[in-house]
Amino acid sequence: MKKPAGFFDVEEKEILQEVENMHKTLVHLHYEGKVSRGKNLKAARQIITRLVADLGRHRRLQEEVIFPYLLTHIPKHESVIQFLRSDHSDIKKNKERLLLSLQKLLRKPDAVPEYEKIHGLGIYLICLIRHHVELEKNSIHQAINKELRPVEKREVEQRVRKWRQKFLDKPPNTPIILF
Ligand SMILES: [Fe+2]
Repeated sequence: MKKPAGFFDVEEKEILQEVENMHKTLVHLHYEGKVSRGKNLKAARQIITRLVADLGRHRRLQEEVIFPYLLTHIPKHESVIQFLRSDHSDIKKNKERLLLSLQKLLRKPDAVPEYEKIHGLGIYLICLIRHHVELEKNSIHQAINKELRPVEKREVEQRVRKWRQKFLDKPPNTPIILF
């Protein structure tokens, strides 16, 4: 049987996998020292850029499509949605701090204290994201799966698909507007 709201599961999996990869990269960057710095900075740049882009997509999809739909159809979830929005904005702030730290390191790979800083910022961001994903699983995912009528589920899925199509239709090198 097709599981309703499967679009959430895919996105969740992707983000958690990227968070896992970022964790590994941050650990390498922090502990492996000067010899591997070039390689580790390159890997950090790749994984952080990708995660940041996916977080931006996650936030926009929810705030432009899913939250408004839920607020119209199940208004009792307004407070959790407000909380999730403020979570998004916390993640955004911390993601920007992480990017700044990464940029500093890319410009000055010998700025040793920055390695400690990027590690701390990254670990904090990872905690925020994991907590956010868990909270969404237990709130809005359940609301969609259990409280929307089948016709509404199909409608929200269709809106998600349309939004994604529009988003993915952009040429691959278009700079991503993250937040
Ligand atoms: Fe979210």
